[in-house]
Amino acid sequence: MRSKHLLVGNWKMNLGPRQGSSYARQLRESITNLARTDVWVAPPFASLPIVATELKGSLLSVGAQNVHWAESGAFTGETAPSFLTELEATFALTGHSERRTYFGETSDQVAQRTAGAIAAGLEVIACVGETESERNEGRMEKVLEGQLNPVLAKLTQETAKSVIIAYEPVWAIGTGRVASLDDIRGAHQFIQRVWTSFNLPGSAVILYGGSVNPSNFADILALKEVHGALVGGASIKLEQWLDLVKIAEATPV
Ligand code: PGA
Repeated sequence: MRSKHLLVGNWKMNLGPRQGSSYARQLRESITNLARTDVWVAPPFASLPIVATELKGSLLSVGAQNVHWAESGAFTGETAPSFLTELEATFALTGHSERRTYFGETSDQVAQRTAGAIAAGLEVIACVGETESERNEGRMEKVLEGQLNPVLAKLTQETAKSVIIAYEPVWAIGTGRVASLDDIRGAHQFIQRVWTSFNLPGSAVILYGGSVNPSNFADILALKEVHGALVGGASIKLEQWLDLVKIAEATPV
């Protein structure tokens, strides 16, 4: 369990260095007091250095949208965990559904990426989630288990605390169709059971992601199974992002 809510903005392939740095400056100037919430942002790689510089000394943390497992080598287009820590990034996402769907990343690779990043001292938000047809066919639990098992199998009693799970049903990402509170509760409870089956210490920290916005966030965060949110679209619109921060701050942990 974390002592605060966790609100993570996934900028995806938006806000290049110029726009990203000016947005980061606005965030730094607008978010000057946080009592109940940790606010993290994941810019695209090209913007990471300038955003990290802009947010240095602020209340926000910066991370990457993906990470490789190796320290260096012939992996064109990839980013080593130590490159991220050198930039003072503190976390990375792994296994986002867009990586799985468009770039063919497998759950085994996601597990490797997760383990490599943790070994380098990063926290990792490992993303899982079923497609609409998998849900309709009653295969949600099987799919989530298939995505979680390789990741959890690589954790130790010590490294487990560096992993956060993001439950993001694919059909809710970027569609405006948020999952129902019952769907979210059920999936988070299931993920918690899988975590427990690995005899890992404590309980899993689980974020919900998929069309989170200021009109649905308060109800979602009020669920005791939900420890925060991973947000795409609403994280790159200043007003909406600040509203989400406000809602998190107003919600008891
Ligand atoms: P969305 O994206 O908030 O735009 O649905 C969430 C995500 O992909 O992490």
